[in-house]
Amino acid sequence: MSLTPLNTDGTTMGRAEEHPGFADPDYVRRRNLIADRAEGRQVGEPSPEVHYTEAEHATWRAVHKALWRAQDHWACREVLRARELAPIPAEGVPQHEEVSDRLEALTGFRFTPAGGIVPNKRFLGAMAEGYFHAVQYVRHPAMPLYTPEPDVLHDVFGHGIHLADPFFADLYRTVGRAAARVDTADALDLISRVYWFTLEYGVTLEQRRPRAYGAALLSSFGELGRFAHADLRPFDLADLVRLPYQVAGYQPVVFTVSSLPHLAELLHGFLDDFDETTRDRYRLPVLSERGFMGRPVGR
Ligand SMILES: [Fe+2]
Repeated sequence: MSLTPLNTDGTTMGRAEEHPGFADPDYVRRRNLIADRAEGRQVGEPSPEVHYTEAEHATWRAVHKALWRAQDHWACREVLRARELAPIPAEGVPQHEEVSDRLEALTGFRFTPAGGIVPNKRFLGAMAEGYFHAVQYVRHPAMPLYTPEPDVLHDVFGHGIHLADPFFADLYRTVGRAAARVDTADALDLISRVYWFTLEYGVTLEQRRPRAYGAALLSSFGELGRFAHADLRPFDLADLVRLPYQVAGYQPVVFTVSSLPHLAELLHGFLDDFDETTRDRYRLPVLSERGFMGRPVGR
């Protein structure tokens, strides 16, 4: 598994663990300070207010400018429609509560604060209740167009767009209701993988051209520039569960659907009666690798 992300011009930026954020103690301190304030909060508790620095606002503006144009070109039309309503200011990092107030008015969803790893049961299950776990810290300013972990930009530019739209919000609730019905790590991991390869990394086709709808693609300038050259495969559950998560670096395999209504059919068909026997009923292989336990990440 390659952990070597490509820069926007195709050159390598180094291994994910060599990202400047890991080696800058001031950055790590700031990131952890923001993350730690979310620790111990219950699902549905409001996110604390963060006093973002001018440097963090500048990072937001740089990403906003680049991502907006990239999404114009590479996002599917349903996403671009949702974006018109989404709470994404150009001038600086919004507070979670501002984002949540807008999302709630549109679809009933709110962000709930995540500090670090959130177990699958909580992360996925909260979606049934209209809560999405999101972080508040900002990526390192030296490399604004790439982050090896989800940050507030990922959550707003990816999930914030989705959750402004009733169509996508229904899919999140569908994932959440399935996760709320099961308890075993195996069943939760299966749901998590389906979530990962659809709502995080999914691609649809428009006039046979690949267009992104997954949040991890939508929020990554680098991914938007290259997903069309990834290994594009038609959505297939058995194929999907065999693939391990690629939690850093670019996603080498992405799954396509013929349209977003088709995606809704697939997800409802698989998840609406999901229970502990689903993997056996579908004759899906046992997961080869225990997936990333906790909050699936994206960039
Ligand atoms: Fe995400």
